[in-house]
This record gives sequence, C-alpha cells and structure tokens, in this order.
Amino acid sequence: MTEPNPAATPLVEIAGLRKSFGPVEILKGIDLTVRRGEVVALVGSSGSGKTTLLRCVNLLETPSSGRITVEGKPFFERSGGEDRAGLPRKAINAMRSRIGMVFQHFNLFPHMSVLGNVMEGPRTVKGEADASNRARAMDLLAKVGMAGFADRRPDQLSGGQKQRVSIARALNMQPMLMLFDEPTSALDPELVGEVLKTMIALAREGTTMLVVTHELGFALEVADRVVFLDAGTIAADGPPREVLIHPPTERIRAFVNRFHETAELMKPLMG
Ligand SMILES: Nc1ncnc2c1ncn2[C@@H]1O[C@H](COP(=O)(O)OP(=O)(O)O)[C@@H](O)[C@H]1O
Ligand SMILES: [Mg+2]
Repeated sequence: MTEPNPAATPLVEIAGLRKSFGPVEILKGIDLTVRRGEVVALVGSSGSGKTTLLRCVNLLETPSSGRITVEGKPFFERSGGEDRAGLPRKAINAMRSRIGMVFQHFNLFPHMSVLGNVMEGPRTVKGEADASNRARAMDLLAKVGMAGFADRRPDQLSGGQKQRVSIARALNMQPMLMLFDEPTSALDPELVGEVLKTMIALAREGTTMLVVTHELGFALEVADRVVFLDAGTIAADGPPREVLIHPPTERIRAFVNRFHETAELMKPLMG
C-alpha cells in the first residue's frame, strides 16, 4: 500500500516462467514483477494456476523453465532443460527462508502450542536462541490479536484465529516477501474480516505481499496492482480500478461480476 516507486529495484522478477505437470502445461510463460512494499493481488478462476505460480515463487514447486530473480540475484533459472542459476543449495535455502507463506488450510503443527508454532521456524531453520525468538513471537502474536492464546493448541482455536497465528508464524521468519494463498477461503464468512484486517495492517506497514484471493474488495482497496491469471497466462496486470472496475476483457468482466458482492465486506474494515 505504499506509493509505487518506479525507480525501486524489483524485489521479485519472474520472466518466462513455465510449469508443466506431465504433459499438461499449467503456467505458460509468466512475466511478473513485485516491487518492495507493493501489494499484488493475484486473481483468476479456479484451476487457472494461481497456487502453482505462488508455489513456484518460493520453489515449493520447481518450474519447468524460466527465470526468477530475488533482490537482483538469480534465484532460479532453467532453459533447455538445464539449471543455469547455479546457486548452491545453501544459498537457495537461505533465500527461501525469507519468503513467508500463508496457506488456505493454516498448516499449524497440531501438537505444539500457538507460541511453539510461531517460534518453530527461527528455532529449527536459523537455530535462533529462544529468548529473542520468544520476545519477537509474543510481539507478533500481539500484533495479530492472539497474545492471550500463546499457550493454546491449534485445535482450541477458530479458523480465523488459526489463520492469524499462521500469519504470525510466517512473519517470525522476518520475511522480505509474504505469499498468501486464499487465506480466507476456508473460513466461515463471519471470520473472514478479522484475517483481512490483519492483512490490511501488514499492507499499511509496507510489507511486500503477493496475495491469491477471491476477496475482490480486498484487491480493490488494498492492492497496488491486480494480476489476472487466465489458463496459465497473465490476462491483465494493472491498477485495481483498471482491472476490476473497467475489465479489459470479457472473461475478466464475467469473473468480476460473480464476485461483486465481496466488495461490500471491505467497507467497515478500511476505517
Ligand atoms: N501436483 C500437481 N500434479 C498435477 N496437476 C496439478 C498439480 N498441481 C496442480 N495441478 C493442476 O494444475 C492446474 C492449476 O492448479 P492450481 O495452480 O491449483 O490452480 P488455482 O490455484 O488457480 O485454482 C489444475 O488443473 C490442477 O489440477
Ligand atoms: Mg489455488
């Protein structure tokens, strides 16, 4: 939600990204840039490849070809079947650990407390000492409104609370980029607002976010850019009002009309 600064170096630059599963090509040459402090909403019909694209960004999925540059450094490059980035695995893992991800289904560790979940990444991935980790984890739980739940287990929480803990857990790795994959679509309607509110606060602080969402109201009000994915290609990439209010194609217009009502939800949250 910061003012886009065209001079800023792109945080993530994706070029010519392709991904096939077996014979089926799901991503058909994606070019996408996310600048520091930007909130980019990724929208599109089910099956268009949004999750696959998000998972390629942090290499949870290995692209078939293309290039991903993070902070100006090669993160992934493959062409002609050959790996050309040539980064040691350790460097790749260090970069991956700075990309946070929030999933539709939370994926909290069920046997750990809320605090344990939030502390787990820095403890196991970075070997951080507990004192600093715990202090930051408690601050983050406070930030997402979950400080009073530090000792609870995930199964004692509502979906909205679990998702806010998942956000705190991702933030505790001090990521340079946050990826969200439909973070509210598994929630009961009355719990959607509390998660969106947390995301709005992050956006306002300048967190760089790539958000797959069907909450077009959120995309309209919070995103700097809306990217519309259609069958594995980018059909639109521009300011939210351009893409969502004056859709450039008939397919986008049809998609937007179906989700029109979610815009109403945002009004009380933006305050
Ligand atoms: N691991 C996989 N193996 C085979 N096909 C997959 C796999 N993951 C996703 N797909 C297929 O890729 C297409 C795009 O899926 P996905 O990226 O999940 O779309 P979206 O998130 O936009 O709904 C779908 O047809 C899906 O079935
Ligand atoms: Mg998906």
